[in-house]
Amino acid sequence: MGVLSYSVTFILSLLVLDVNAAIDRHSIVSRYNPKRNASSPTTPLQVGNGNFAFGADVTGLQTFLPFAIMSSWGWKNDTLPAQKSEVDIIEYHGTSYPSHGREIQYMFNGEPTMNKWMISNPNRVNLGQVGLLFVDAKGKALNVTEQDLSDVRQELDLWTGAITSHFKFQGKPIAVQTHSAQSNDAIGVTVTSPLVQAGRLGVFLDFPWNDGSSKFSAPFVGKYNMTSNHTTSIKTGRGYGRDAGLGWNVQAEITHTLVENTFLTSIGGDELSVSRVSPDVHRYNILPAHRSHPTFSLTVSYSLRRPKSIPEPHSIAAESKSVWKKYWTTGGFIDVFTGSADKRASELQRRIILSRYWLRVNEAGESPPQEVSRLMIICVLQLSDVCDLTKSGLVNNGWYGKFHMEMIFWHLAHWALWNNWDLLDRTLGVYQRFLKTAILRAQVQQGWKSGARWSKMTDPTGRSAPGEINELLIWQQPHPLIFAQYDYRAHKNHATLEKWKDVVNETANWMADFAWFNSTSNKYDLGPTMYPVSEDTNPNVTRNAAFELSYWRFGLDIAGEWFQKLGKKVPAQWNTVKENLAPLPIQDGHYAIYEGVETDFWNNTKYINDHPALVGLHGWLPLTANVSLDIAKATADKAYTSWNITNCWGWDFPMLAMSAARNGEPEKAVDWLLHPLFEFDDIGMPVGGVRVPTPYFPGSGALLYAVAMMAEGWDGSKKKAPGFPTGKAWNVRTEGFSVLLT
Ligand SMILES: *[C@@H]1O[C@H](CO)[C@@H](O)[C@H](O)[C@H]1NC(C)=O
Ligand SMILES: *[C@@H]1O[C@H](CO)[C@@H](O)[C@H](O)[C@H]1NC(C)=O
Ligand SMILES: *[C@@H]1O[C@H](CO)[C@@H](O)[C@H](O)[C@H]1NC(C)=O
Ligand SMILES: *[C@@H]1O[C@H](CO)[C@@H](O)[C@H](O)[C@H]1NC(C)=O
Ligand SMILES: *[C@@H]1O[C@H](CO)[C@@H](O)[C@H](O)[C@H]1NC(C)=O
Ligand SMILES: *[C@@H]1O[C@H](CO)[C@@H](O)[C@H](O)[C@H]1NC(C)=O
Ligand SMILES: *[C@@H]1O[C@H](CO)[C@@H](O)[C@H](O)[C@H]1NC(C)=O
Ligand SMILES: *[C@@H]1O[C@H](CO)[C@@H](O)[C@H](O)[C@H]1NC(C)=O
Ligand SMILES: *[C@@H]1O[C@H](CO)[C@@H](O)[C@H](O)[C@H]1NC(C)=O
Ligand SMILES: *[C@@H]1O[C@H](CO)[C@@H](O)[C@H](O)[C@H]1NC(C)=O
Ligand SMILES: *[C@@H]1O[C@H](CO)[C@@H](O)[C@H](O)[C@H]1NC(C)=O
Repeated sequence: MGVLSYSVTFILSLLVLDVNAAIDRHSIVSRYNPKRNASSPTTPLQVGNGNFAFGADVTGLQTFLPFAIMSSWGWKNDTLPAQKSEVDIIEYHGTSYPSHGREIQYMFNGEPTMNKWMISNPNRVNLGQVGLLFVDAKGKALNVTEQDLSDVRQELDLWTGAITSHFKFQGKPIAVQTHSAQSNDAIGVTVTSPLVQAGRLGVFLDFPWNDGSSKFSAPFVGKYNMTSNHTTSIKTGRGYGRDAGLGWNVQAEITHTLVENTFLTSIGGDELSVSRVSPDVHRYNILPAHRSHPTFSLTVSYSLRRPKSIPEPHSIAAESKSVWKKYWTTGGFIDVFTGSADKRASELQRRIILSRYWLRVNEAGESPPQEVSRLMIICVLQLSDVCDLTKSGLVNNGWYGKFHMEMIFWHLAHWALWNNWDLLDRTLGVYQRFLKTAILRAQVQQGWKSGARWSKMTDPTGRSAPGEINELLIWQQPHPLIFAQYDYRAHKNHATLEKWKDVVNETANWMADFAWFNSTSNKYDLGPTMYPVSEDTNPNVTRNAAFELSYWRFGLDIAGEWFQKLGKKVPAQWNTVKENLAPLPIQDGHYAIYEGVETDFWNNTKYINDHPALVGLHGWLPLTANVSLDIAKATADKAYTSWNITNCWGWDFPMLAMSAARNGEPEKAVDWLLHPLFEFDDIGMPVGGVRVPTPYFPGSGALLYAVAMMAEGWDGSKKKAPGFPTGKAWNVRTEGFSVLLT
């Protein structure tokens, strides 16, 4: 093709683009920039990169409120209980429950001190605090509170990932700009004020003691008054610290040691003077070395190992700008606002845009996002004294910062529909990494013949935290098959098939093995012993839970297809089990939670106060073989009215919306998404609701999954935006989505 015809084609394609008017993503995103004029006592504004996040108060730093700085790699172990050693971890012995004539060994109810240690370790560490330092004319630190500031305004620019804060102190203006690096775990901060030239403004760093004494730490993590429990030390040197062996542009390095775990903080930027406030505190003051300019910039970088260099503040800002721009301009995008008559359209658009931001900051790490839920049940089981607080993402700590492999679906599956594979891929390696421990769990610990059993409450080594629910839940099992299938759709090649082969194989092997052949019914039963999604039944009698049967069927279908695509023989047992799974339990024309549950369970408070997963049979899941469309619809309708909706929370609402959408009731689907009990705060953080504190990110992940499904449809859906009502109320435009799996 000649240059001329190439240009003509190019111009033509521009014209075509114009006709189809691409969505003006920048103007829609910027419309929802969060703005504040005071710190929120519950949620920080954050900058971050998915692996690392920095929570800011209204000063753009952590001047008044010590919101957390958290990462996917910042974990520590507390001291082992007295007279215990590493051997006791390896030899930890739980309890056994009988199941179909066999005693199965589970990792809970072991020796109490080890039990407790293994639940609470490792725990996730808050890396520190960075705040503004106000000093008087003599250089003495001032005790300033937020009430001492005036003309306060703050904005988070979603398009560039920048927090800009403006305020006055003693009549003098101060501006602070904060960015997060994207390929490093560092922040870049620029402070501008006449107070800088007066030598009256700097930055302080502080470091908290972190331990596993509290399951939940929110809104703040760690204790700043337990200074004798941990140590810090500082290294500085001439010529940017080089004579102290530091990275080439590192001016000071602070080593923070908690028990045997060490974290490094490296400081650079404009020429700075860094000093420890006193030997018995872990606070360090930083002042610009020169006062010729009203602005100074610094980088504060966190790591486990000494960096060769750290990014300069201006390059952090530039990187933030370009990475966020790429994020917003590629991948899926939706405009439900322009041209929609429904008054709720702007609020839905706000939730979507802000969820996209918070999940990119908190939920795209090398290990899965931490998880919080089922507070009540866990509280009944243990540690009721700490049952008032809990969190997720990198905002603060819930469950000691551990992640939960069943919730990974709601945290992460939206990335696949929104085509953000670069982000999803960061985490999905967890399945390859944990395959060995999952095989050991299934075959060595629990004595199954084959396969890998995925854990629930998990640490970065793949170890499952002791707990009855952790060990007996099963709906996490098919998840990797779904992720694999999405991966293949996005990357249809042999390498993808090979990448997931072992995970698919061993996942399905255990699913087939777990199904027990019942010679009375000639069917394969699931359980006992198991907990269904709704964790509120007796695991010793729970058998053939409807959702799990369906999900097993769906998963085994995918696994079989996978092997066919690979040109391998599909293991006979997968098909035998799949074709002969017990039928879904039916009572009075509706599906029941499990076979044998009390016939009045719809009216029984014991069963209607947890996740209404029965609506997932046709919605979240496609209609699998053996599920009747009529019965599934009738079941969903009954759940809408019989379930205790006031006790629903987080992802329940998007799950209900997906059910209504697939059942052809788009008005209801939108109502569920915008249900008054499914709230997002002033900056779009998902409110926990009745059961869990804010933010509860599975609510955001599920919202984005449901919105993608409702707007782009699912395999076999006919019309455009099938989950939204037609007519003037909703005008839905999408770009760059994938459709939901069938
Ligand atoms: C601060 O913001 C709130 C809304 O978030 C607004 O109601 C209030 O008037 C603002 N205060 C000032 C002083 O601007
Ligand atoms: C905590 O201890 C366990 C058991 O020794 C070990 O596997 C894990 O790597 C440790 N984690 C950290 C962060 O030290
Ligand atoms: C389930 O069975 C185990 C082992 O027999 C027992 O310890 C446990 O209390 C039972 N749970 C319930 C809810 O009955
Ligand atoms: C700082 O001032 C506040 C409010 O006046 C007070 O509550 C606090 O104890 C003071 N802190 C210090 C370290 O003096
Ligand atoms: C630290 O503060 C907490 C309350 O926030 C208190 O319970 C604890 O005793 C204090 N510890 C020390 C060493 O002062
Ligand atoms: C922390 O320090 C306190 C004294 O301030 C001490 O009683 C406690 O045992 C220490 N805890 C740990 C885990 O080191
Ligand atoms: C699947 O897993 C089984 C059991 O581990 C193994 O024997 C078989 O070779 C695996 N199949 C493939 C294709 O890797
Ligand atoms: C086998 O299935 C039948 C029919 O569902 C059921 O009544 C029976 O309890 C099952 N047997 C066992 C041991 O679970
Ligand atoms: C489930 O569906 C399959 C067809 O895919 C069929 O062979 C099997 O008999 C059905 N099982 C039940 C219990 O209805
Ligand atoms: C549940 O309660 C409603 C009235 O509250 C009643 O009409 C219905 O028959 C009850 N259903 C069952 C299965 O007990
Ligand atoms: C429904 O949930 C609310 C809110 O948690 C609770 O107060 C109420 O007791 C529940 N009602 C029933 C019937 O379980």
